[in-house]
Amino acid sequence: MHKENKMKNSSIIIKTGTLRTSDSEFLIQEIDASFIDQILQLQQDIYDSLPEENKSFILVKPKSFFENHFKSDQNKMIGIFVDNKLIAQSIILQPTIDNPSTGMVDMENIDDVESLSIIEGVLVNPEFRGNSLMEEMVTIWLDIAEKMGRKHAIAEVVTDNPFSWNVFLKKNLNIHSIGIDPDDQTKLYNMHETIDNIREKELKGPFNYHGAKPKKSCHVEDFKQQSQLMTQGYKGISYSKPDSQMLMARFKY
Ligand SMILES: CC(C)(COP(=O)(O)OP(=O)(O)OC[C@H]1O[C@@H](n2cnc3c(N)ncnc32)[C@H](O)[C@@H]1OP(=O)(O)O)[C@@H](O)C(=O)NCCC(=O)NCCS
Repeated sequence: MHKENKMKNSSIIIKTGTLRTSDSEFLIQEIDASFIDQILQLQQDIYDSLPEENKSFILVKPKSFFENHFKSDQNKMIGIFVDNKLIAQSIILQPTIDNPSTGMVDMENIDDVESLSIIEGVLVNPEFRGNSLMEEMVTIWLDIAEKMGRKHAIAEVVTDNPFSWNVFLKKNLNIHSIGIDPDDQTKLYNMHETIDNIREKELKGPFNYHGAKPKKSCHVEDFKQQSQLMTQGYKGISYSKPDSQMLMARFKY
């Protein structure tokens, strides 16, 4: 490994690229407990930048959360740097029998905790949005989860936050179910897909993958209809922004 491929803390760079919105270079790397101060600062900056009505998009985590997070070698974090400054981050939570918490507020158990990989706290500094940096982090998360033998990719997103859940849809997760945060009644989409199915969709393309499955379209804010369809085995598979329609496919008959 060449010296220049390592940051001063010896974390290995996963990917480099050029931002779309400027010509600056970005670096993506795994970050560890030595970054906790920067992680907390970015989290606070983003929380402060969100308008009051969007503050529920993120759950601000205390320092102790990150200290505990890094105690398990199953847990990871991805960071993106521009000019040595942390400008985006994601938490990868991979529960174990000793630390079984999934962090999911209202989602049924779908399998053994040791088969799950959950991404949370996905944050991009407002100055750097629109560069698909979330998509970059989701791609890397899926690679890490797959390499570490996790079977299921899971995330939770406020339903009012299409900027986030649409990226998960584009990366071939489905809207599996709707949950409610008991603390403040916020409506949440539970996003899920097995990593095997994600890989198959990448190979075949989502259109061919879903093939002849029955499909229905409903308004993106019609949660009643979405819930009804979900009880019949439908899941959200894509979103058409121009006509505000969510396409749902029936997985179970
Ligand atoms: C959600 C978030 C992580 C997306 O990151 P990103 O790297 O900008 O994502 P992308 O570049 O792929 O853009 C995603 C969408 O946001 C839109 N977007 C781009 N720039 C934006 C900006 N400055 N402000 C708001 N939205 C913007 C894009 O148009 C895109 O929408 P589209 O899919 O309809 O085209 C980022 O907006 C963010 O940190 N938001 C606040 C925290 C949050 O909501 N986190 C998600 C928790 S689950």
